[in-house]
Amino acid sequence: MDAIRIRGGAPLRGSVRISGAKNAALPILCATLLSDGGSRLRNVPALRDIQTTAALLRFLGRDVAVAAPEVSVAPGSDVRPEAPYELVKQMRASVLVLGPLVARFGRAKVSLPGGCAIGARPIDQHLKGLEAMGCRIRLEHGYVLAEGPGRGGRLQGAEVCFDIPTVTGTENLMMAAALAKGRSTLVNCAREPEVEELGRVLNKMGAQVDGAGTDVIHVVGSDRGALAPFDHAIIPDRIEAGTYMVAAAIVDGSDVVIEGAELSDMEALIVKLRAAGVEVASDGQNVRVRRAGPLRAVNVTTAPHPGFPTDMQAQFLVLMCLARGESVITETIFEHRFQHVPELQRMGATVALRGNTAVVQGVEALHGASVMATDLRASASLVIAGLVATDETEVRRVYHIDRGYEQIEQKLGRLGARIERVKGADA
Ligand code: EPU
Repeated sequence: MDAIRIRGGAPLRGSVRISGAKNAALPILCATLLSDGGSRLRNVPALRDIQTTAALLRFLGRDVAVAAPEVSVAPGSDVRPEAPYELVKQMRASVLVLGPLVARFGRAKVSLPGGCAIGARPIDQHLKGLEAMGCRIRLEHGYVLAEGPGRGGRLQGAEVCFDIPTVTGTENLMMAAALAKGRSTLVNCAREPEVEELGRVLNKMGAQVDGAGTDVIHVVGSDRGALAPFDHAIIPDRIEAGTYMVAAAIVDGSDVVIEGAELSDMEALIVKLRAAGVEVASDGQNVRVRRAGPLRAVNVTTAPHPGFPTDMQAQFLVLMCLARGESVITETIFEHRFQHVPELQRMGATVALRGNTAVVQGVEALHGASVMATDLRASASLVIAGLVATDETEVRRVYHIDRGYEQIEQKLGRLGARIERVKGADA
């Protein structure tokens, strides 16, 4: 397995262009199952999760050509509405094929994703919503078997209230509702920009989706049996942008311009960065990030959008490791999302974990070490720690980073970081 080796301390200077949003691309690729024509998605990041989704769509019978930043999906000869464990276990977002498959083909067999490194992550809200649309659901041998009303008939529009806002749950039900009979009302929806983006694409496909990006979404199902194909360029990745902002903030003397980020999607992070003493300035197009003096301790609690994103918690926690004073970081979305903490402690961070809270006492410096993590954002946080640490840091199991950060070592290298990929390092 590859590793990333960093010699810390080099200030980051210059500009970095943000890639398309992984978590927008994944549901939109799955939405191609709702149509019969050839669709084209642009500004797609070159990431392992995109390859996994392409492999899944091919398995389902689609012709998929990935030439990042473009992906085209055409109908294949035969559709097999079945997502096997081998693919779903590589990427939980594979569950996003469930809604489109059952809406379009009247049945679906999708492996249950199982637990993952950051928490149990059940899909009960997805299933409850599909049942409200008349779907019969059975769980057998680790698979969800879903069948439309009657014998694989058309879904019925329904009123669904999510017990908690769920991003992929909201997306699955929007796609299912787009081909259901009549009107659906989804209440307590996730308001993430990626949900809003899926709504835009579904409308381009001829669906009638209203309210995506708010907590109540109305969908009027199309009577045509399939939606139209689309051509769409996806929004920038707010989590990638946020990760580079924190990287720029952490190394003293850095001055980085982030190109192509959508600041209005990142307000909670920007408020917290400014409170910590980081200068974030926008000229309407690009964002410039610099440190304005010592870092101040700031408390953060993760929350569904527009709150502070759980996907930025690990990176922000690293920043707080070097702030003056004590900060309290509370994780409310996923129960096991502090895997970076024991690794950071090995680098000299002072962090006490109490349930879903991390109490961070800022230290003068972090020190290089061999570290690894078992999820994407935790791994990114260790790279950030390596950028500022004394001596050398080796981040192992880079596999996770490749799922979600396009060319991270090249992008950081161009900003002046002393960073390299070591092929086939020990796991
Ligand atoms: N939940 C349930 N039941 C459900 C669905 C969710 O209890 O049926 C719970 C989850 O266990 C969690 C909370 O609801 O406690 C919110 O989870 P959500 O369903 O919103 O997460 P997700 O849709 O599985 C997406 C992103 C994640 C991101 C979360 C939260 C995609 C493909 N994934 O996951 O991204 O952390 O929303 O914002 O959109 C990442 O990119 O690193 C990543 C993990």
